[in-house]
Amino acid sequence: MGKLAIKGGKKIIEEDDFWGNWPVIENIDKESVLRVLERGGLCRLYRGSWSEEFEKKWAKFTDTKYCIATSNGTVSLELALRALGIKAGDKVITTPVTFIATASCISELGAIPIFVDIDFNTGQISAESIEQNIDKDTKAVIGVHYGGYPFDIDKVKKVCQKYKLFLIEDAAHAHGTKWKGKHVGGFGQFGSFSFQESKSLQSGEGGAVITNNKKLYEEALLIHNIGRVLGKPGYCHYILSSNYRISELCAGLLLSQLTKLKKQTKLKEKNADWLKKNLKELGIEPLPADKRITQRGYYFMVFKFKKEEFGNIARDKFLEAINAEGIPFGKGYGYPLYKNPCFSKKALSKIYPENLLKILPDYENLYIENAEKFCEIQLTLTHRVLLSSKEKLQKIIDAVEKIKNNIHELKKY
Ligand SMILES: Cc1ncc(COP(=O)(O)O)c(C=O)c1O
Repeated sequence: MGKLAIKGGKKIIEEDDFWGNWPVIENIDKESVLRVLERGGLCRLYRGSWSEEFEKKWAKFTDTKYCIATSNGTVSLELALRALGIKAGDKVITTPVTFIATASCISELGAIPIFVDIDFNTGQISAESIEQNIDKDTKAVIGVHYGGYPFDIDKVKKVCQKYKLFLIEDAAHAHGTKWKGKHVGGFGQFGSFSFQESKSLQSGEGGAVITNNKKLYEEALLIHNIGRVLGKPGYCHYILSSNYRISELCAGLLLSQLTKLKKQTKLKEKNADWLKKNLKELGIEPLPADKRITQRGYYFMVFKFKKEEFGNIARDKFLEAINAEGIPFGKGYGYPLYKNPCFSKKALSKIYPENLLKILPDYENLYIENAEKFCEIQLTLTHRVLLSSKEKLQKIIDAVEKIKNNIHELKKY
């Protein structure tokens, strides 16, 4: 297979556009957005909006009763917390292995993110660790279906019920994922989605909350529209809040993109199964199979790098070499969230008032064992490669084999 690209050899993939475009924009998408423009009314304030139509369809797709589309998946999390009455000083438990929005939505309300550990096996929030970290100020848990692989909903829900905590599912990665036959997002009080451009269902920017609870839906609907009742234009505001509304143009795009999601999910799942089987044989371990996961949506595939299968080289050395071959492996968000500079005392003092600063965890000195170890060995692969042909996917296997065959070279590097 020749010399490694990192040592000046020929790359396995030379073309920049090898994996094809994401997002996939076709004529039906252009027509759908044009339809919005031609009908006019680009804000969803009126009844019968495109946003409303999308909300009905997304609620149906996710097996829930109600949906509210929002301008992105960060404010949808905030909306859920606000609708549940989370206030400054309340504690909200979450995982450190996720995107920053899962934690920043908590601090936006003056509430306190409490990071707990993950299950090392799955990379997902651990129900045992949640239970160990509950105290009298704990009000809610935000679990994340990281990469699209669901956290153990049965166990987490049980802990939440036992301690009367609200459960929010951050399903920003999990469009299409089903747990025991039901779409994720509807198991707690709220589920939250992102439709940002990189996600499996996208409109450039966008988000949504889903719920089965009518009261919570009505509260969130009011909050999301600056405290104003949708469909009743005017200036009567029942609650002080912000504007979380989605644009009608985004809703138009979501309506056409949604028609393709089922088919794309099936194709990605089939390709992912093939890749997982082949990569596992080479020492790149996929997350474990679980019969309760009846359909798997992907934002990224998550693997564990078994360095003993690669002459004990570090994961980052492997990443450098495989990226040089043109294979877009990544390492998720790199490190546990609390290692971000925004959790330094200095940065926090700009966000929290004195009385809350005193009771914040010492984020800078946190060491959450499984989360730390998982972040050191995880490898991720974006969902867009899963829309490719087997011939293209074979290149990923070829590249890993090439590295294995040249491992002595890499060890010297
Ligand atoms: C897990 C998770 N939650 C929330 C968000 C926020 O979504 P958005 O970018 O639409 O604000 C993201 C975005 O990447 C995410 O990955």
